[in-house]
Amino acid sequence: MSDLPAGFVWGAATAAYQIEGGVQEGGRGASVWDTFSHTAGRIKTGETGDVACDHYHRYREDVALMKDLGLTAYRFSVAWPRVQPEGRGRTNAAGLAFYDALTDELLEAGIQPWPTLFHWDLPQALEDEGGWLNRDTAHRFEDYAFAVGEKLADRAAGFMTLNEPFVVMALGYMLGIHAPGHQLGLAGGFAAAHHQLLAHGMAVRALREAGAQRVGIANNYAPAWPATDRDADHQAAAQLDALHNHLFTDPILRGEYPAAVLDLVGVHAPQALDLILPGDLATIAAPLDFLGVNYYQPDHVTADLQSPFGAKVEGVPGRERTNFGWSVVPEALTQTLTDLKARYGDDCPPIYVTESGCSQPDVLEGGRVRDDARTRYHEAHLDAVSAAIEQGADVRGYFAWSLMDNFEWAEGYSQRFGLVYVDFQTQERTPKDSFHWLKRRIGG
Ligand code: NOJ
Repeated sequence: MSDLPAGFVWGAATAAYQIEGGVQEGGRGASVWDTFSHTAGRIKTGETGDVACDHYHRYREDVALMKDLGLTAYRFSVAWPRVQPEGRGRTNAAGLAFYDALTDELLEAGIQPWPTLFHWDLPQALEDEGGWLNRDTAHRFEDYAFAVGEKLADRAAGFMTLNEPFVVMALGYMLGIHAPGHQLGLAGGFAAAHHQLLAHGMAVRALREAGAQRVGIANNYAPAWPATDRDADHQAAAQLDALHNHLFTDPILRGEYPAAVLDLVGVHAPQALDLILPGDLATIAAPLDFLGVNYYQPDHVTADLQSPFGAKVEGVPGRERTNFGWSVVPEALTQTLTDLKARYGDDCPPIYVTESGCSQPDVLEGGRVRDDARTRYHEAHLDAVSAAIEQGADVRGYFAWSLMDNFEWAEGYSQRFGLVYVDFQTQERTPKDSFHWLKRRIGG
């Protein structure tokens, strides 16, 4: 077990649509995920987030679990359609009141609140006007960010604007696996990317105006490893690396799009580049206080001309797999963190690992969940963080994904990532063995 620096932040993360339920309550409007999950065939199990973990009603019990675990921080997301049911104009006092109460409950338990403004639940009313394909959505996000900032900035430890904009672009706008379910190729993908980036930059401005102390973003990263020595696989890996790891980070930290992405979009969808207006990159590059890193597994890449990414991603041969089939490769987290340092140098703000975790085939037996594989996962990934720090990366915290089992998007409730087991029939919560392990680890 390696040491982590003094003051290291011990967190766990969740997202609104994955845990809250209460979708008809408190004046909440509909989001793209309500629509998507209620559309036949979209979710593998046919399930929805209508009830999820019923956290909307049980947040006090959930904060008590966090306190027992010894967390010093909790990353949650604010549901935009609770705050602005129509995505614009009027703010909904009952929606803001929920996050206000959650924030106070956390502080009372000695836990820092780390809100994320957008974890994928775009108001359906905005999707009806084009969603992230529409530049106006960025302006709407700026207003929303200010409203949340005004309410929470006096108490939130760190705000994240967006969660994993690459996944929204790739799965939501190009592959159709996530809401809103579009299959638009690179032109639509790039539009969704640029408008999210713009929304991010505008929200940074709005949050600061509202008095926020610390502002960042949670991006997902994965080193891209060619599956073979073939030139085609090397090229595919380089292209995916640019799209996955640099497309959202170069504009934010350096104020420019990566040349490889501009070339690619220029060849396949040149009109998409016209969306970049003068001044946009300066807005996007607003200085940040931290960079959030979500990490799960490396991209193990084979060239694939059928894919809009030019690449097929499969597991790493010979490595342990999670229930999802994802490869367990802790050293790729070390590489992710040191690569960021190498590419951005002093332009890279302090890093927090804002998600890391695994789904496992958990079973509750005799009141206990023996999830040794998850304990090993977190142990190894914390060691991977220590190794990155030794190599010069400035990493200040680790948020386990997730506090509790929840609605895993297109997979429904079939993939359990939690430190706490949730019985979705009774809503009973049971801390797993990994929870007890992490509690001891945090306790030092
Ligand atoms: C990243 C996403 O932010 C989160 O919502 C999701 O549940 C985890 N990955 C696991 O897939």
